[in-house]
Amino acid sequence: MGELVLNVNGKPYTVNAPTEESLLSVLRNHLNLTGTKYGCGEGQCGACTVLMDGAATRSCSIPAAAAAGAKITTIEGLEQNGKLTVVQQAFLDEGAFQCGYCTSGMIMSVTALLGNKHASNEEEILGAMNGNVCRCGTYPRILEAIKRVSGHATGGGAL
Ligand code: FES
Ligand code: FES
Repeated sequence: MGELVLNVNGKPYTVNAPTEESLLSVLRNHLNLTGTKYGCGEGQCGACTVLMDGAATRSCSIPAAAAAGAKITTIEGLEQNGKLTVVQQAFLDEGAFQCGYCTSGMIMSVTALLGNKHASNEEEILGAMNGNVCRCGTYPRILEAIKRVSGHATGGGAL
């Protein structure tokens, strides 16, 4: 066990956790942030994606201790003052989910993608999203949602 401080969604949290406990487990089981999902547990499906200093990160694959000092954002931290981000709104508007299990990971990956640079074409989007799996096969609508917001990318501020 060890004590660590995590900065999650703009707030500091002190957590007592085994040094090898994953960031995903700490988020879900210590901080009750269950919007981040457990899928494969092996870094292969993207369900557990969060932002670490703005970069899409598989939270199942890193120990929470490795995230100390970083700015972590989960799906719960995107909405501000009751207003969804343009990425969240686009997923809603396009109905880009079925069971919704993959959705938070998808949205976090898209947020990282569009926050870093303008994704101008389908090939670029598909390449960036290749590691996010949707078992329901909702890919066409997810792609439409991403294309809907890619024109809004403004270096992260609007996302
Ligand atoms: S649960 Fe982390 S990548 Fe699948
Ligand atoms: S909507 Fe069910 S896994 Fe993607």
